Amino acid sequence: MDYKLDHIEEIVHFNHEFWLRFVKNHWTKRPLKIENPFSEKITDEATIFSALKEAGKSFKTKEHVNFGLWVDGHTAVNYGRLFAQDSDDNLENYLKRILSSGHDEFCYAQFNMQCYALDLWDAAKDFIKGLIEIVGIPAGELDTDIFLGCYKKTPRGIHTDAAETFMHVIKGPKTIALWPKEYFDDKYVAIAGEGLNKTILVDEIEPYMKDAIILKGNTGDMLYWPASYWHIGLHDYSVEAFDYSLAFNIGYFHFQKEDGIVRDMVNDLFDTLSREHMGATSIKNLLAIPPLEKITQKMLQTIIGSHQFLEELEQNWLKHASGFGFYELPRLCNKNGDTALSYRLRNKNDNVQLKKVGENYFLFTSGYGKIVEWDECLESAIFDLNAGRSTKKLSLEIKSLLLSWHSIVPVDIAKSI
Ligand SMILES: [Fe+2]
Repeated sequence: MDYKLDHIEEIVHFNHEFWLRFVKNHWTKRPLKIENPFSEKITDEATIFSALKEAGKSFKTKEHVNFGLWVDGHTAVNYGRLFAQDSDDNLENYLKRILSSGHDEFCYAQFNMQCYALDLWDAAKDFIKGLIEIVGIPAGELDTDIFLGCYKKTPRGIHTDAAETFMHVIKGPKTIALWPKEYFDDKYVAIAGEGLNKTILVDEIEPYMKDAIILKGNTGDMLYWPASYWHIGLHDYSVEAFDYSLAFNIGYFHFQKEDGIVRDMVNDLFDTLSREHMGATSIKNLLAIPPLEKITQKMLQTIIGSHQFLEELEQNWLKHASGFGFYELPRLCNKNGDTALSYRLRNKNDNVQLKKVGENYFLFTSGYGKIVEWDECLESAIFDLNAGRSTKKLSLEIKSLLLSWHSIVPVDIAKSI
């Protein structure tokens, strides 16, 4: 294919100028490879490995189920033993444990990684903040994902996702083969899925490889490709060499029809409406809407038209916006408030917003929001926090609240007493 790959080979400062140029030349348009752009690594194997252990625990407690596991190219059936365990001492030995049970290939995709390691969330926010300032919070969501394993090609095959993808190669090489949106239009191949999530149903990818745009990333490189591009991950893997690959992806997900804050709220509403005693409809009166459907419609009309619904929508939006557009969030911790501590924001990209919604004041930050008592020190304390300074001017109640929010950590404990 006549395509000149855009390629940057220098340390990149992901500042406003860089992102302006990126949005003009590449964003949603063209793939890009940046060789080793960071003077300091965005993250490392150890951080990811401990996050994967947390993800495995979450699966066991059924809190999160957003992952993909494949052995020998097929979706795994027996998941439990495939997750990283506390007894696995490092990534390499973990993978060796999986393969030692007679498998040649193993592929693990874990989504929502920000839920399992705040360092990964911070790294993603640091990286993407400059872009968000230009293009805005996505109508869908931001997410961080891991692709790990010893496999020759992505088991899902050639596909598109709903995401603009920034792949950080933590352990390479990692190759992504890409084809523009229209490439398969005249190839007479079956396509499964719809919208931005589609998969090409072919047994062999070889016939299409001669036309592929190849993004080959070594350890430390960053690869970007737009949501519209067909792609598949490739790795020259051999069991003997045991050269596993690891990628940390930051995805900017476009709106899909199953997304949306109002949609979530209406779904929740349906869960709370009691409809289990829906009666049968008499065959004598099939042309009339059944009474229970009419009752449901009236209830929804009343609730959705109410100012409480609008206030809740506003709260939910402010939570989402304060979480930078990430939808899946880390759990709150259960720390008790200590009145002697001073506080600062965990991440310089976070912000605390005080907002009156209806009759109540709310604090929003990092995807969470909670009602607070207003007091005269509150505004100046928030000003300090948002300016990156620590503060002691908070009421006991708000200190307790902030301590339970993972994004905010106490500093200078001894000095501030
Ligand atoms: Fe993908």
